[in-house]
This record gives sequence, C-alpha cells and structure tokens, in this order.
Amino acid sequence: MTQSPPLAGAFDELADSYDHRHHEEIARVLIAWVAPGAEDVVADVACGAGAVARQLVQGRPDSAPSILAVDLSPGMVAVGRDRAAGLERETAIDWRVADAVPLPVAERSLDVVLCASSLHFLGRRALADWRRALRPGGRVGFTLPLATHFRPSERFTGLLARDVPLPHTAQEASRWATACGFVEAESRVHVVGTRRVVVTSATRPDGR
Ligand SMILES: C[S@@+](CC[C@H](N)C(=O)[O-])C[C@H]1O[C@@H](n2cnc3c(N)ncnc32)[C@H](O)[C@@H]1O
Repeated sequence: MTQSPPLAGAFDELADSYDHRHHEEIARVLIAWVAPGAEDVVADVACGAGAVARQLVQGRPDSAPSILAVDLSPGMVAVGRDRAAGLERETAIDWRVADAVPLPVAERSLDVVLCASSLHFLGRRALADWRRALRPGGRVGFTLPLATHFRPSERFTGLLARDVPLPHTAQEASRWATACGFVEAESRVHVVGTRRVVVTSATRPDGR
C-alpha cells in the first residue's frame, strides 16, 4: 500500500459526521453525467460510504455484475455497509477496504470507472491505472471541487495529492483528462449550495 495511514485515519474519524447529503447529490450528478449501462462492469473508486455504488445498485437487473466499491478507510466502508443494509440488491456491492490504486481488477476488465470527490486524494497515478483497468471505449467519470470554491481544513490540505490540479473551469478539467490520455472529455460545473463541483466524463481510447 502506497498511501499513508493518516489519510485512512482522517476519514475514519470523519465517518460518523460525514456530509452524506452533499455527497449523495454529487454521486447522483456524476451517475447522470456518465450514464452507465444497466449491465456494465463498474467500479466506485475511493467509494467512502458508497454513495455512487448504493445509488447505482438500485434498479440493476439481477443478471448485472457486482459493483466494486473500494476505499482505504475501514470506517467509511463500515458506514457504507450500514447504509446499504436493506437495499434491494445490497449484496451486489463488492466492498473492499484497500488502496484503490491500483484497482484490484484485471487489465481491460471494466466498462466504467466512477470516482466522486476523491481524485484529488488519489493523485494522477489513478488515471493511468483507470486506463489499464478500462476496456477500450470504456468510460471514466470523476468529480473535483472547483478551485475557487474549495476550502479544505488544514488537516485535509496536507493529505491532498499535489499532482491533481483543481480546475478553475469545466474546460480545464476536460483538458486535464485529455492530457492524461483520455478522449471525448466533457465537463460541467454543478452548484451544490455554496459549493461548486466540476463533473467530468471521458473515454478510454483504443490502444495502450
Ligand atoms: C471525500 S471522500 C469521498 C467518498 C465517496 N466517493 C463519496 O462520494 O462520498 C474521499 C474518500 O477517498 C478515500 N481515499 C483517499 N485516498 C484513497 C486511496 N488511495 N485508496 C482508497 N481510498 C482512498 C478516503 O478514504 C475517503 O473515503
């Protein structure tokens, strides 16, 4: 594992007071922007309490594969499991406590990678791994805070990956996804209360 234990510890401590309303909204917007197919093989990367995986699993057909939900923080995953309890297809979420980079999947095995509110902790290495894990033509969707509206605490500032530039505009986020080897990048700014989030989707090109 390459991530520092302080990151998992920081999110473990946050798990009980996590702002679920905010993150459920971002997950909803991300899913709508990428629109995965009902039977797609999907990973919820750095899933936290699984806002993406829990929304996505509802209404999936019985024949659909499990959704992989990976996070470094045991506390966040425990909250996710609790919140998933009673959902119609709760067993179709494959929860894992682990570093999400690299994802525990074979090369070219995923149709869709979704990463809500987490890429700025994972670092640019995550995009290289998503290109490995996605099939050609597979889709990635991620959200990042808009640089002008991001006010992390000192503790969380110290945990941020330095090689993920927070976008000032939607176009900046798309350009960065393209610079990281994806194509057909599309982004938009979404307003959540006083906060602003950039939602990006892009496609894994053919070839390496
Ligand atoms: C702001 S939360 C977002 C969680 C979730 N995606 C959501 O939308 O609510 C960031 C999450 O990233 C996770 N995280 C950060 N670095 C990670 C890594 N290298 N591997 C797995 N999870 C990581 C943290 O544990 C935390 O749960």
